[in-house]
Amino acid sequence: MGERPPRGWTETDSRAFIDDGAVFVPGREEQIATLRALIPAGPDEPFTVAELGAGGGVLARAVLEAFPRCRYVALDGSPAMRTRLGETLARHAARVEVHDFELAERAWRAALPSPLRCVLASLVVHHLPAAGKRRLFADLARRLEPGGALLLVDIVEPTSAAVREAFARQWDDAARVQSLALTGGLEAFERFQTDGWNFYRGTPDSYDQPSRLDEQLRWLSEAGLAPVDCFWMRAGHAVFGGWRP
Ligand SMILES: C[S@@+](CC[C@H](N)C(=O)[O-])C[C@H]1O[C@@H](n2cnc3c(N)ncnc32)[C@H](O)[C@@H]1O
Repeated sequence: MGERPPRGWTETDSRAFIDDGAVFVPGREEQIATLRALIPAGPDEPFTVAELGAGGGVLARAVLEAFPRCRYVALDGSPAMRTRLGETLARHAARVEVHDFELAERAWRAALPSPLRCVLASLVVHHLPAAGKRRLFADLARRLEPGGALLLVDIVEPTSAAVREAFARQWDDAARVQSLALTGGLEAFERFQTDGWNFYRGTPDSYDQPSRLDEQLRWLSEAGLAPVDCFWMRAGHAVFGGWRP
């Protein structure tokens, strides 16, 4: 595949997220620990994971370290992110493939490895509209081996104005606390505010199209996954998914 930039998400976004993602994402370590614990595999098992929008490889590294025999296919549409991925995962390079992809396209879904134990996606599926998410879940559920899991982290659409305001406040609070704790100052939090990273405060980015959590759980069920559930949630960020029976 060529060097096509992902629609909407820019290389400037990638560089900002590489620098400040740990501050901008609420409870990132908890999200990663939750996902990792739900991957349906024993620690010494050989199996394959695919990650969509793998970004700088923070989740991938945690999974590769927890499962020393897993093979990891990391897909991302950003050249800057793929460069960073390669650096983050250098120690595990023999078990890792990194590829360009466009989330909305369907050819890559048919080309996913088989058997496939787990598909992970963190903070990327909200770039698809509702119908695109529903189709993605159906396409991915078909690719999973029995017992395999589709596990996601994503921002979700609030169900009312009051909930939107609660999510917005929680996200600001988390970013402020993380800025102080991780960098010793508030400059990263100021970038979070100035550059409009809090989706719930209003965003000019039409490619941010989160869907409600209840709808997404229904689409996962309709895709044939069971059980489906939400396992963690904070500041509008949900960890959720389901298993192929
Ligand atoms: C918010 S970042 C999340 C990165 C990583 N998953 C994490 O949680 O740290 C979104 C990632 O998805 C990728 N991305 C966004 N839209 C995409 C699209 N339409 N096709 C392919 N990749 C996309 C970006 O390049 C970026 O790496």
